[in-house]
Amino acid sequence: MAEMINLTINGKKVQAPRGKTVLEAATDADIYIPTLCYHPALEPEGTCRLCIVEVSGSLRKGIRVSCIQEVKEGLVVETETEEINKHRRLLLELFLGRSPDSPYLIDLAARHGVTSSRFLTGESNDCVLCGRCVRVCRDEIGAYALCFVNRGPDRKVTTDFERLSEYCIGCGSCAQVCPTGAIQVQDRGNERKISTWGQVFAKFKLERCDHCGTPFAPAKYLELINKKAYQPKGLELVDYICPECFKNRDRASEKRKASALRSSVVKWSVPR
Ligand code: SF4
Ligand code: FES
Repeated sequence: MAEMINLTINGKKVQAPRGKTVLEAATDADIYIPTLCYHPALEPEGTCRLCIVEVSGSLRKGIRVSCIQEVKEGLVVETETEEINKHRRLLLELFLGRSPDSPYLIDLAARHGVTSSRFLTGESNDCVLCGRCVRVCRDEIGAYALCFVNRGPDRKVTTDFERLSEYCIGCGSCAQVCPTGAIQVQDRGNERKISTWGQVFAKFKLERCDHCGTPFAPAKYLELINKKAYQPKGLELVDYICPECFKNRDRASEKRKASALRSSVVKWSVPR
């Protein structure tokens, strides 16, 4: 079992396993710290700086990024000091300057008292450059279809040479982890298109479910599932089942199990 570390967050005594981050320890203790680039399924990179906190005690007093700062014995953390709130409001204003129409960002900023921005660029893009899409595609899926290009105000997420990606497998994980909805996955008929910044960066033909006939997933994505989930167990994905049929099959098998259990209870119950 992992060694437990004692620390204090906003005056509350908290314990967390060694290796956890301050953000994880705070979240487990129901203490809110705002985040943007953090996602629990991804390795944190600490790029947006929204999760900054003030530390003291076992670390030199100062500001740290809580999603990459590991817990330490005797650490004292404050998540809402005047200075921290001032930095956060400035960051939110900067993000809002770039994405003034993003409902996600508008809500997040309002939660911290920021309702307008001095840094409006005259353009509006829902992408806040958090990098979650690039990381999930690179680190979790292993497809390396997305990357950042350019610097400063021209920085954006795109594909190699900004062309239709030959590496994308059409899984849509980028859209799932995007906090602002800046990546769209559109399924029409048997075609899937994935786009961001107004650019379609991948197109796929969807394979049909062997049970209901609905087009549901690109072949490249199903190949990845076969490679990652089936082959390591010595199995092969031979029939394609869409998530809906999969759920129904599970429900049917649960029902079968429940009715088998009921009949065995009836069979073995002793009459009074
Ligand atoms: S598209 Fe979404 S996930 Fe990717 S960098 Fe922009 S906001 Fe983050
Ligand atoms: S959430 Fe920690 S730096 Fe972005």
